[in-house]
Amino acid sequence: MARGCSQVMLRPRSSEEVSRILRHCHERNLAVNPQGGNTGLVGGSVPVFDEIILSTALMNQVTSFDSVSGILVCQAGCVLEKLSQYVQERDFVMPLDLGAKGSCHIGGNVATNAGGLRFLRYGSLRGTVLGLEVVLADGTILDCLTSLRKDNTGYDLKQLFIGSEGTLGVITAVSILCPPRPKAVNVAFLGCPGFAEVLQTFSTCKGMLGEILSAFEFMDAGCMQLVQQHLHLHNPVQESPFYLLVETSGSSAEHDTEKLSCFLEQVLGSGLVTDGTVAADESKAQALWALRERITEALSRDGYVYKYDLSLPVEQLYDLVADLRARLSSLARHVVGYGHLGDGNLHLNVTAETFSAALLDALEPYVYAWTAGRRGSVSAEHGLGFRKRDTLGHSKPPAAVQLMWQVKALLDPRGILNPYKTLPARA
Ligand code: FAD
Ligand code: MLT
Ligand code: ZN
Repeated sequence: MARGCSQVMLRPRSSEEVSRILRHCHERNLAVNPQGGNTGLVGGSVPVFDEIILSTALMNQVTSFDSVSGILVCQAGCVLEKLSQYVQERDFVMPLDLGAKGSCHIGGNVATNAGGLRFLRYGSLRGTVLGLEVVLADGTILDCLTSLRKDNTGYDLKQLFIGSEGTLGVITAVSILCPPRPKAVNVAFLGCPGFAEVLQTFSTCKGMLGEILSAFEFMDAGCMQLVQQHLHLHNPVQESPFYLLVETSGSSAEHDTEKLSCFLEQVLGSGLVTDGTVAADESKAQALWALRERITEALSRDGYVYKYDLSLPVEQLYDLVADLRARLSSLARHVVGYGHLGDGNLHLNVTAETFSAALLDALEPYVYAWTAGRRGSVSAEHGLGFRKRDTLGHSKPPAAVQLMWQVKALLDPRGILNPYKTLPARA
């Protein structure tokens, strides 16, 4: 857990107020930590020393919604779940969803380039965010809040701020493309006998469900044990080494159900899947999703958690979990793997009763070197924040890191925006 000791939190209501705050801080060299819902997992929203917290909590207004194009324009402090409800009432959905939806802000989502549970279907925020309004370190308001699908006029500056974790500017408003709300959603929860079968089920799934597949998530038996033990959730299928959550979203219930049934017949018949259940109603679908979405919460109740969020070639996604289980043996309480298998994103988590330097030494830099050895990413979707900033070099060459420092110096020459975050500490 990252802890700071800030004495000031400011909660502006408008971009103009953010601009005045930043101009003031820039003139006086005061460090500022932008903060959304404070749900980030790498300490980016937590002041390290005495940074002023600039919270978007009161910037929570929807500016406009176009019911033909599905383009939503809103302030950065809108809570994701509230936006989801807002667009669903108008027959659209947000292109992203994540377990922290009840607290995280859309500005925080964009600042971290959050991936989440709908990435497989709707892709990255780098595609769905159409425009941003950003206040720069010196208080300049940069209005790139367009709502155009296509715009090749010059450099696409908004991309610089997507995933910049509050180090290059404060995002004050977002224009985002929302897909139509699918008329039919099906959720299946499956048990698999091994990881090889998980991979084959994924291939079969892509082949048979193709255009209606909207999520392919996995969790191992250790995760299931934790959600049962700490959250008293019920396992709806036979105990298995791996579990899969498959979601389809489409426009015809009859067509989708038939396709899903054929897929289930195929994977159950061939032994790739040993047991499965399908949600017949919304509340069962939510109960199945809870098994996957609440793993983070269950882990936090298991003791001290070492969290790793890795992109890896999908065939090797689970190798590191098995390797670490053997390597750490009794040093760890649990070594578990879950994540967005459809996106090649593993969440590797290790728990212990309390923090242990010996366990940390056994994990790092081993996990990062292992990942770099397979040309993976040491942060697939959570960012680097405070906790992971020194791992950047495992996934980016020195020339890229150098260029990042140059961009930082250009946009924030006095280094007031979220210092100590994202870019590595310099010797
Ligand atoms: P914060 O935590 O407040 O801030 C995160 C970073 O963004 C900080 O560096 C902060 O300085 C910066 N920031 C915040 N707002 C702004 C702004 N307006 N302008 C500039 N910078 C800003 N992430 C995923 O990618 N996929 C998941 O599936 C996922 N699931 C999660 C599930 C749980 C239970 C939890 C607790 C977290 C999960 N996350 C996931 C982590 C994820 O990064 C965040 O939940 C979310 O995107 C952060 O939004 P926030 O508003 O809470 O931002
Ligand atoms: C998830 O997919 O559940 C999140 O990214 C949170 C986590 O990794 O714990
Ligand atoms: Zn995730």
